[in-house]
Amino acid sequence: MIRTAFCEALGVEHPVALGGMGSIFAPPLVAAVSEAGGLGALGCHGLGVEQIRSSAREISERTRKPYGLNFLLFLIDEKCFEAALAARPPVIAFAWPRGDQALEPYIERAHGAGAKVTFMVSDVAGARRAAEAGADVIVAQGSEGGGHVGWMGSIALTPIVVDAVAPLPVLSAGGFADGRGLAAALALGASGVLFGTRFLASEESPLHRNFKQAIVASDGHDTLLTEIPDIAANLVWPGAMSRSRRNRFVERWAGREWALRRHQAEALAGVQAARLAGDLDEAPLSFGQDAGLIREVLPAAQIVRRVVADAERILTNRLPGLIR
Ligand SMILES: Cc1cc2nc3c(=O)[nH]c(=O)nc-3n(C[C@H](O)[C@H](O)[C@H](O)COP(=O)(O)O)c2cc1C
Repeated sequence: MIRTAFCEALGVEHPVALGGMGSIFAPPLVAAVSEAGGLGALGCHGLGVEQIRSSAREISERTRKPYGLNFLLFLIDEKCFEAALAARPPVIAFAWPRGDQALEPYIERAHGAGAKVTFMVSDVAGARRAAEAGADVIVAQGSEGGGHVGWMGSIALTPIVVDAVAPLPVLSAGGFADGRGLAAALALGASGVLFGTRFLASEESPLHRNFKQAIVASDGHDTLLTEIPDIAANLVWPGAMSRSRRNRFVERWAGREWALRRHQAEALAGVQAARLAGDLDEAPLSFGQDAGLIREVLPAAQIVRRVVADAERILTNRLPGLIR
């Protein structure tokens, strides 16, 4: 069994976490990851107060193990945050503050409600800032990942952040999807991994089956960093691009972002309809380069168990066998 400082800090069995994903409303997925011994987190971006309350209730009915509620700080809604704290989740998972936003009040309020705090960052300055503000675990997210990412790759970012915030535990995110990734992250000094894309292609994920199939079919080379999905959604992200699948929608607007701004409302309506229909050409779909490692849709618990078992085999058999 692999035990790390992350496991100790948050009281979880395995050093594997599900990243909160605001566009993926899936209390059963969160609970399945936690029940399997990882740390599930529910993306609260886009949810209302009542949905946050009922989701927290549903997750705690499905598992007694730790789980998190995730907030994008630059978009945080006070009433939703209050509802989350009142639900007393074991973990609050923050990401993406504005540069001028004070972090301490949010972290102190989470601690005051009995929660541990994880904080996702995409650069070392962000990691220091979150550590100084009192975060318990830092998530170093590299640009290979799905969704909104920064400019540094995980392999360099992880050890840089580990050194900068020691002795705080660091999870490595972005580009990891299997036991090899967990073993590599541990070798880089991280205390575990956080997955988004791998769990998007799980049985419990509510993603349209066409989109899950696109992840399984991907060789990892079909994504790009773009602002086009955000422009269509009328969102200005504080310092991030979105890693999304290259498709007809993205190619139509690439280099013509000004025109997309002019036609934003029609574009958004088209995107929403395409999402519901599972239209791979017209719906932006965010996933990471690690899609190239994902061969099948699996139950979340099996993903957690397989990742941990494969990493254990690598650490106990393959790597020690290289030492002469
Ligand atoms: C569709 C999608 C939505 C995401 N939404 C959020 C979010 O709301 N909050 C957050 O902290 N991270 C979000 N992320 C980032 C993930 O938590 C995680 O950092 C990332 O997926 C890791 O890279 P991977 O996809 O290669 O595993 C999202 C990622 C994806 C793919």
